Amino acid sequence: MSSSDLPASCVIFGASGDLTRRKLVPALYHLVKEGHFPAGLLTLGVARRPKTDEQFQAELLDAAQKYSRTKGVDPAVWAKVASRLGYVQGTFEDPATYAALKSRLDASAPTGTRLFYLAVGPDDMLGIVQRLAEAGLLAHDPASGRRAHVVVEKPFGEDLPSAHALNQELFKYLSEDQLFRIDHYLGKETVQNLAVLRFENMIFEALWNRNHVSHVEITVAEDIGIEGRGKFYEKVGITRDVVQNHVLQILTLVAMEPPLSLEANALRDEKVKVLRALRPLTGKDVGKEVVRAQYTEGLVGGETVPAYRAEADVDPVSKTDTYVAMRVFVDNWRWAGVPFFLRAGKRLSRRLAEVVVHFRDPPYPLFPESSGRSANVLVLRLQPDEGISLRFDTKVPGGNMRIQGVDMEWSYGKAFGGGGPEAYERLLLDALRGDATLFTRHDEVEAQWRFIDPIVQAYRDDNAPLSFYSAGTRGPDEAERLLVEHGQAWRPLL
Ligand code: BG6
Repeated sequence: MSSSDLPASCVIFGASGDLTRRKLVPALYHLVKEGHFPAGLLTLGVARRPKTDEQFQAELLDAAQKYSRTKGVDPAVWAKVASRLGYVQGTFEDPATYAALKSRLDASAPTGTRLFYLAVGPDDMLGIVQRLAEAGLLAHDPASGRRAHVVVEKPFGEDLPSAHALNQELFKYLSEDQLFRIDHYLGKETVQNLAVLRFENMIFEALWNRNHVSHVEITVAEDIGIEGRGKFYEKVGITRDVVQNHVLQILTLVAMEPPLSLEANALRDEKVKVLRALRPLTGKDVGKEVVRAQYTEGLVGGETVPAYRAEADVDPVSKTDTYVAMRVFVDNWRWAGVPFFLRAGKRLSRRLAEVVVHFRDPPYPLFPESSGRSANVLVLRLQPDEGISLRFDTKVPGGNMRIQGVDMEWSYGKAFGGGGPEAYERLLLDALRGDATLFTRHDEVEAQWRFIDPIVQAYRDDNAPLSFYSAGTRGPDEAERLLVEHGQAWRPLL
């Protein structure tokens, strides 16, 4: 039986929220449209505001129309979705909400997998899981075909102790194989392609080590600001919002050893090893290895945007980081001595996520420096314009030995016509199927915090001064220093 024939239901907590509208509903629509989700999938939204099933359906149709990756919504497909789309009104604290939910589920989808998607803030997560368990909704017995899976959003904890405590609390009600901790970067096609590129193509993997790689850059740059999330940002900053999860996840996929298989635990075992091999950054070293910064007023896309400190709900003397760059080392046999430069920033000149692998110079320079030699560079562009490019040197036609770097380019859009699935489509489908390969395991998320906590502590202790950069630029000049010490420069953002 394919997953599209299985009886199943999906319950979304936080059904009136932004994540539901922007990501989950379009994903649901496409999964049904493409036949990946059972057409008879029962979807129930749970939220506080009173509304009827019909009002909820109209609201979600509007969301699907606005945010679906294809233009418009096919009425026939939507009719299928809507016919099994309902709403349960109630607070997350009230046992009556769960009783109402249970009776709807038992009446309309008594068997199969139940997927509970918690599109809620971190404060609500544990209480919902506890009450689901008390209502008997987390019964999980794969042998009899009854499964309950729970998807939780980031942030997962705010540091190592809280993430550890949260894991322990959740394990009272759920096993690891029922729990799906989202890092939506893992659902991106190009991030998944990192493993394919490395382990299907010997030309790259053979060179993928300290003998041939001089350094690696990982960039997650955004042109948007904090999008009205001042309260949240004041608490987290970009180091915890983006580096702790997305950037470190990309790093693990770039640096890990070949897994024994693509089975979830085999892959995650290798990723955890990379996180454990990260050289800790603590105390005064953070000031040397990390540049943190905040945006001031500037021009983005021709428009003046306010400084971070002038955003709503932000302290006018806030020291929150909206940009961070750091030099890290993976202390193991493969990567000893190879610096990995990580950077993430809001309100930069453009949106760009990429991995750049710089190869070493030839051992003996046969051609003079002045001839235009450049090192080999492999760029894996994760977004936008997903693709791969490889830079190599070639002779410029003419009587003398002039050399120029040229790029061999491959583009996803051109090769496959673009329009691949959104990250949430893949992740929702995998969570329903019970495949945790693209979700972070408890020890992985804790290892991420173990690395990040001392860095954030050093910010608090003023061991890493806060720099500033104008919105719409490449970030603070101070970040250049990290690479200059290696005789290198960041790949330009512009
Ligand atoms: C989220 C962060 O996890 O990722 C946001 O909370 C950030 O601050 C977003 O903007 C970036 O995701 P994407 O897919 O737009 O690159």
